[in-house]
Amino acid sequence: MSTLARKLLIAGNWKMNLNSSEASELAESVVNQVGTQMEVAVCVCPTYTSLETVSQKVVDSNIALGAQNMHHENSGAYTGEISAEMLRHLFVSFVILGHSERRRFFGETDSDVNKKALAALEASLKPIVCVGESLEERESGQLESVIESQIKGALLNVSPNHADQLVIAYEPIWAIGTGKTATPQDAEAVHAFIRKLLVELLGAEAAGKVRILYGGSMKPENAEELLAQENIDGGLIGGASLKAHAFTSIVESAIKLSS
Ligand code: 13P
Repeated sequence: MSTLARKLLIAGNWKMNLNSSEASELAESVVNQVGTQMEVAVCVCPTYTSLETVSQKVVDSNIALGAQNMHHENSGAYTGEISAEMLRHLFVSFVILGHSERRRFFGETDSDVNKKALAALEASLKPIVCVGESLEERESGQLESVIESQIKGALLNVSPNHADQLVIAYEPIWAIGTGKTATPQDAEAVHAFIRKLLVELLGAEAAGKVRILYGGSMKPENAEELLAQENIDGGLIGGASLKAHAFTSIVESAIKLSS
C-alpha cells in the first residue's frame, strides 16, 4: 500500500451482469457488510439500468456509486448514450472510462477516453481511466510504449488540480477474467512506471495524489499481497465483485492494510 496519503479504493465493476433486483440485493449485502467502515473507499459500478435502485441502497452508507461508461457531451442527439450530468443526478460519483472491453468491442480510442475524462472531471465525476497491454504486446516488449501512449492520450489537458479526483486502473488484458493475475512485483513495476508518467504530466505533488488501481483476476486469495505494493492504491474487481462475500473480503484485506 502506498506510503503517501492515498486512501485505498476497492471498486466493483459488475459489467453486463445482474438485473436491477439482483443488483439491488448485492448492493444491500455490500452495504450491510462494509457500508459503515471509513478506512477504505468502496465503490460499486452496476449497469445503467440498475443505477437508480443501487443508488437508493447505498445512499446512507459509505459505499459510492460508479457507472461503467458515459458520453462526453452533456445532452443531444446521441441515441443510446448517457451524459455525466445524468449520472450526477443519480448521485453517481465514479465513472469507469476506456475499459479494455470498450476499446476492443466498441472501438473506443485514447482520444475518446480523453474527451470523456475531461467531461467527467468538469462535472465533478471521478474518472477511473483504464489502461493495459495485451499478452502479445507484453511478450513483444511493447508494454511500456503501450501504457505510455494510453496514459498520455487519455490524460491530455487534464489539470494537476484534478489529481485527487483522478483514478487510473492498470488492467493487463491477459489477466481479465482469465484467472491469471500479474505477480505483485510485475504489477508494482507497471504501477511505478505509470506514477513516473504522471509525474511528467502533472508534476510530482499532483502525481502523488492519483490513485492507481490494479485489475485482472483480483480475488480474496491474492488481494492482500497486491494491495500491499507501494504504488497499488486499490483494485478494480470484475468477477469477484459479483459475490458479496468475495468482494467484501477484498475490502477487509484493504482495511487490514490501512489500519
Ligand atoms: P476480473 O476481475 O473478472 O478479471 O475483471 C477485471 C476487470 O475487467 C475489472 O474492470
